[in-house]
Amino acid sequence: MASLSNQGVRSPMAEKKYGIITGGASGLGRALARQLAREGWHLAIADINGPGADETVRMLAAEGGSGQAESLDVTKPEDWQALSDRLRPQWPRLDLLVNNAGVAGAGLVGEFSLEDWKWVLDINLNNVIYGTHFFIDWLKSNPGRSHIINTASFAAIASAPGMAAYNVSKAAVVSLSETLWCELQANDISVTVICPEFFATNLLEKSRFNDPNALKFARKAFEKSTFTADDVARSAIDAMKKNKLYVILPKAARQRWYLKRLNPQWFLGKVTALMAKSTGGVKRNA
Ligand SMILES: NC(=O)c1ccc[n+]([C@@H]2O[C@H](COP(=O)([O-])OP(=O)(O)OC[C@H]3O[C@@H](n4cnc5c(N)ncnc54)[C@H](O)[C@@H]3O)[C@@H](O)[C@H]2O)c1
Repeated sequence: MASLSNQGVRSPMAEKKYGIITGGASGLGRALARQLAREGWHLAIADINGPGADETVRMLAAEGGSGQAESLDVTKPEDWQALSDRLRPQWPRLDLLVNNAGVAGAGLVGEFSLEDWKWVLDINLNNVIYGTHFFIDWLKSNPGRSHIINTASFAAIASAPGMAAYNVSKAAVVSLSETLWCELQANDISVTVICPEFFATNLLEKSRFNDPNALKFARKAFEKSTFTADDVARSAIDAMKKNKLYVILPKAARQRWYLKRLNPQWFLGKVTALMAKSTGGVKRNA
């Protein structure tokens, strides 16, 4: 895989920072990588999509940073171990771990197959569990300057019907991030969890949707989204620098999050009604 570097645009005095981004071959992961590259970071673009990771690495050089593409299936502990074995001798330290790889799946509970449940949880949740398991000691050895960014979703808060596996995976990522935030206060490591509503990426291309209406709804939400992967990346990097835990986007979603905390059951009724209108409703069990 490609390895490119371009340190010329930065001051020779600035200390290079090192980060790993899973799911960096596309969408939000790539947007995060490109923005960090503008600040001179060196990044491992760890993804199951080798050509996409190579393409991101080429973009990093153009942005003034550098990178290396690393083959990783986030569901495989042995891949994580191998990544750790490769990077530790090469890098002086690890400044940032971004657990971002993810997939989308939708279907009613009882109809979404157990195999599909496993697929969603394996990628969306195990990414974060394995990533932190294999790299937290390295981050801890760099107190005061290291960070974790985990990509969840507003789905973790909305709990919309017909998306249980995805909702559960992302709610677990929020819970794990909150726990890490508490545990890592002592180590002065910042933790940020990203919870955006829909924005356009390649996420739906390899998704598993049981219901064509739900897929249509998601595609429309992607098209109508008022913010981009770049906007999410900018907010996440800003939050990382300020040690802010939650990134909820857009502003309307932050208001919805507030309403849920005020009156959770009322909020869930509104979500159910919205989804019924948008996708033709949740079928009652016979
Ligand atoms: N796009 C949205 O509307 C949206 C909203 C909220 C949260 N998210 C989350 O953002 C994250 C990034 O998704 P995106 O929207 O940029 O989609 P994307 O499909 O463009 O990017 C996902 C990346 O994850 C990689 N990936 C998938 N399975 C993998 C595996 N087993 N091992 C390693 N890499 C794997 C893909 O190759 C791809 O590069 C995901 O966690 C997603 O759930 C997206």
